[in-house]
Amino acid sequence: MAANIISGTEVAKAIREELKVEVAELTEKHGIVPGLVTILVGEDPASQSYVAAKNKSAHALGIHSEQVTLDVDTPEADLLALVEKYNNDPKINGILVQLPLPKHINEANVLYAINPDKDVDGFHPVNVGKMVLGEQCFLPCTPHGILELLVRSGVETSGAEVVVVGRSNIVGKPIANLMLQKREAGNATVTLCHTRTKDMAAHCRRADILIAAVGVPKMITADMVKDGVAVIDVGVNRIGMSSTGKAILAGDVDFEGVKEKASCITPVPGGVGPMTITMLMKNTVQAAKMAANLI
Ligand code: GUN
Repeated sequence: MAANIISGTEVAKAIREELKVEVAELTEKHGIVPGLVTILVGEDPASQSYVAAKNKSAHALGIHSEQVTLDVDTPEADLLALVEKYNNDPKINGILVQLPLPKHINEANVLYAINPDKDVDGFHPVNVGKMVLGEQCFLPCTPHGILELLVRSGVETSGAEVVVVGRSNIVGKPIANLMLQKREAGNATVTLCHTRTKDMAAHCRRADILIAAVGVPKMITADMVKDGVAVIDVGVNRIGMSSTGKAILAGDVDFEGVKEKASCITPVPGGVGPMTITMLMKNTVQAAKMAANLI
């Protein structure tokens, strides 16, 4: 079976068109310009390119965006003070602190300092708790993007066997939780595999929907999946440099092999990545509407 390639680039573009209309309406009817600040500490090239892409996307939608880059040695107290400044800035609806942070900064201290009403990453414990309870909140952007990809690609999740590989706070834990809830793109039977899982391949072979978020290039191979599986590849692994100096990326899934057995599969790049940024924009618009009591 040749798989249907799920283009996150195309789905994200369609959602951004919807958001553009929503932002224009907010601005024209209500005088509201949603605002996002991204804060980057240090010069990690991957983080720099993610943050640049987030600001570019905001700008294209008519969202006000500010970008702050701090020296890698910035003390934690200074970063906390900056977060507090933006907590109190009415022009800013969403605050994003790019992860990972340098080792001397306690990530939890910073994430917990963000006002939950401006936590467009959905990483604050208040939003994580609400998500687990199935209440209205900011959903973390990558899992939110995966749900949208599944819905818009017509993948049936109700009653499906979903296997998630990877237990990170950003992807594995939240997507596993969301997909077992009574909600759109939910009602699945979910297995969460991790580094201590015995016989990972046996679990993966049961999956109707396989979500790989481990950060190991091409770890999921064709012999580990069943015919007709829907595959979502969250991995973005830099495996080399092209002759033009661009990073060569690989997912967590051996795309060439697995696509011969899958019913549908996301590519890397052009799969989950563009969705993550777009869901950040969606959360920023949601934050602006909440601040104006419009939802
Ligand atoms: N680093 C990698 N992914 C993310 C993300 O979704 N949000 C933030 N803030 N940092 C990240």
